[in-house]
Amino acid sequence: MAIYTLPELPYDYAALEPVINPQIIELHHDKHHAAYVKGANDTLEQLEEARDKDQWGAINGLEKNLAFHLSGHILHSIYWNNMNSPKDGGGGEPLAADGVGDLADAITESFGSFAKFKAQLTKASATTQGSGWGVLAYEPISGRLIVEQVYDHQGNVGQGSVPILVFDAWEHAFYLQYKNQKVDFIEAMWQVVNWQDVGKRYHAAKASVPLISF
Ligand SMILES: [Fe+2]
Repeated sequence: MAIYTLPELPYDYAALEPVINPQIIELHHDKHHAAYVKGANDTLEQLEEARDKDQWGAINGLEKNLAFHLSGHILHSIYWNNMNSPKDGGGGEPLAADGVGDLADAITESFGSFAKFKAQLTKASATTQGSGWGVLAYEPISGRLIVEQVYDHQGNVGQGSVPILVFDAWEHAFYLQYKNQKVDFIEAMWQVVNWQDVGKRYHAAKASVPLISF
């Protein structure tokens, strides 16, 4: 029983040129993201089998695989929508005129300025060791925005935080075009950020009721 499905890209493979070339987008979406979707579904089936047979020898690996593949699916689903072509308004900064003034205010309150936030997310993304992500997340207890440096897809995150802008820093996201220049790729990413989408996610996260109270 497939629970998760690969979402369609919101644009064609060439839409993010020259920041990301079509070959990367095609492989990244059709192969890598698809593998996480399949991995999450396969792991759920294996867990069901473990319950049916009452055989728990592989439980540690299965739980780790579930977190890895499911988080990979979720982060990539956000990633595609977080980007759009500069021709369609991608890049720049969140502006009140575009309906995302409250996001801009929250960034300033949480980081001091947009420039400081940009520096922190750039550094967090570009300095990932091995595979990881730089993530802007809404933290529902304090109502602040935070930057997280995510290991693989699921490690080093604060429980309950909601990702609203994600930079994929895995080599598969850039290597065919940028080779070993990960910093150049992350800096170029700012040209395709879809602030309307980030703002929509910020509004939704803010409106959700925190599940934890003290
Ligand atoms: Fe990726």
